[in-house]
Amino acid sequence: MGTTRAKERIFLSSPHMSDEGYEMQYVQEAFDTNWIAPLGENVNQFEKELATKVGSKDAAALSSGTGAIHLALKAAGVEEGDVVFCPSLTFSATANPIIYQNAVPVFIDSDYKTWNMCPKALEVAFQKYPEVKAVIVVHLYGLSADMDEIMKVCSKYHVTVIEDAAESLGGYYKGQHTGSFGDYGIFSFNGNKIITTSGGGMLVSNNEERVAKVRFWATQSRDQARHYQHSELGFNYRMSNVAAGIGRGQLKVLEERVEKKKYIFEYYKDELSDLEGVEFMPVNEWDEPNYWLSSMTVSGNQVRPIDIMDALETEGIESRPVWKPMHLQPYFEGYEFVGDGISERLFENGVCLPSDTKMTDGDLERVVKTIKGLWLK
Ligand SMILES: Cc1ncc(COP(=O)(O)O)c(C=O)c1O
Repeated sequence: MGTTRAKERIFLSSPHMSDEGYEMQYVQEAFDTNWIAPLGENVNQFEKELATKVGSKDAAALSSGTGAIHLALKAAGVEEGDVVFCPSLTFSATANPIIYQNAVPVFIDSDYKTWNMCPKALEVAFQKYPEVKAVIVVHLYGLSADMDEIMKVCSKYHVTVIEDAAESLGGYYKGQHTGSFGDYGIFSFNGNKIITTSGGGMLVSNNEERVAKVRFWATQSRDQARHYQHSELGFNYRMSNVAAGIGRGQLKVLEERVEKKKYIFEYYKDELSDLEGVEFMPVNEWDEPNYWLSSMTVSGNQVRPIDIMDALETEGIESRPVWKPMHLQPYFEGYEFVGDGISERLFENGVCLPSDTKMTDGDLERVVKTIKGLWLK
């Protein structure tokens, strides 16, 4: 796969258009027909194609994954004062929309087995807040949460489940696509995701009536009338027809991207697993992740995650810490946390390695060599 490039910067996960130029073909169609708008054929087809890919009945293309979570919460009927369970170990975009709805997040700890929401901590949270309105489950770094266990607990309490699959497009739990288990699933096409539209998101659901409502809210809640009439609060959250064209092209190479991400993960695992204190993110027997970001933990005092990140940065290689848990964020510190501090330990010991699908073997060698060097000191 090529040779070492002289000190070219290696990115964590950057946009990667198809070699075939599929994206430009769809974008060109939008230009040729002057459909440069937040509606059009690319939007309609991208919704259909993504819904088919993940096995959901319907999908709404939106301007971001964050907007999709916001409207999923609204579709779930989450209102002021309602409690929503949310994993602590995630990006803030999972939790922020709970606040947009003036609802109250309760943060749930991770499970070492999955790095995702711990079903036991979830059960404890339900005992305390049986009236909870919705549960958001995240599939971190493309790893599936343990959906059977989580859905079992959630169905006992008849609660709406929203899957934040922003990072896991192309990943499967027991053969079923992540994002298609809950009442609502959301995806992100931000520039750093496995496929991108430069910015965008998608909400999927088997409830077509609710998806139609999400489209309505996302287009300023315009009632069917000759004049501009609004009976509900509206949002400007629709995806543009140009962005959707990029998305349609990117969707064609999704499997290729997953394959490369897996190759990157296995390369690192083969080369670095034997280093003292290193443990890679858990890939369970029932999981087929999309390996969005190859991540590992380092324990012991010999080498710390910060040493790895500093050494890589000196070499012009991007890496980053594992997400800082939400219950440790200054903004969310007043909210409750249920768990034993596993998310905190994953944050303290974790590091995400560059997982850019444009990386060559030479690039991977550079990363590995830099990291191994720290253990030789
Ligand atoms: C777990 C998670 N949730 C939500 C989002 C938000 O998606 P977007 O950036 O498209 O708003 C992201 C990524 O950005 C994410 O990683």
